[in-house]
Amino acid sequence: MDFYEVINRRRDVRAEFTGEPVDDDVLRRVLGAAHAAPSVGLSQPWDFVIVRDPVTRKAFQHHVASERETFADQLSGERASTFSRIKIEGILESTLSVVVTYNPAKGAPAVLGRHAIADAGLYSVCLAIQNLWLAATVEGLGVGWVSFYREDFLRDLLNIPASIRPVAWLCLGPVSRVHDVPDLERHGWRSRLPLEAVVHQERFV
Ligand SMILES: Cc1cc2nc3c(=O)[nH]c(=O)nc-3n(C[C@H](O)[C@H](O)[C@H](O)COP(=O)(O)O)c2cc1C
Repeated sequence: MDFYEVINRRRDVRAEFTGEPVDDDVLRRVLGAAHAAPSVGLSQPWDFVIVRDPVTRKAFQHHVASERETFADQLSGERASTFSRIKIEGILESTLSVVVTYNPAKGAPAVLGRHAIADAGLYSVCLAIQNLWLAATVEGLGVGWVSFYREDFLRDLLNIPASIRPVAWLCLGPVSRVHDVPDLERHGWRSRLPLEAVVHQERFV
């Protein structure tokens, strides 16, 4: 696939996972792409926890369902009815999950480039996630980012130390199809802005 085709083909997937196996070599290439991401001070502050156990996934899905309700309770009218039609995760339908974490102690204390912007470590983890997402797209796999969770719940579930932040629960696996239009746009939740709306010349305002 051409690079820009990959960029535009990448989708957040929820309903289209088939649950078919993912080849170990493919998974290794996808994780290798994530691990090749740039990072502040070359700190490489990420870790990847592969979750296949259905019991663990069921427990997480249960938690996500309750967080979905928490969010839904904040909505009313059209927003509430639109949200009720949107699927927000494919935790059990996908083949496996990859939980990506951020460890600020990696490369510390002198992380080159992080002294003024603590979040630069977190930005690095997000770049690893984007690499993973694009590599999975090239491999014909879907990825669905789930963020309807409390960090402490996920720490407890996966035995993640208190000093390490879970950044993403990613559902991963083969898919029956990839939509051209993001789910949220198809369901009328929100649309992608035109490029002109976000590009500024010389000054922000
Ligand atoms: C930080 C982050 C968190 C997200 N959390 C969720 C989520 O919990 N559930 C979900 O269905 N999609 C989630 N998404 C996916 C977005 O809804 C999706 O990227 C957006 O609607 C654009 O669609 P596309 O990725 O298919 O282009 C998340 C995406 C990001 C970047």
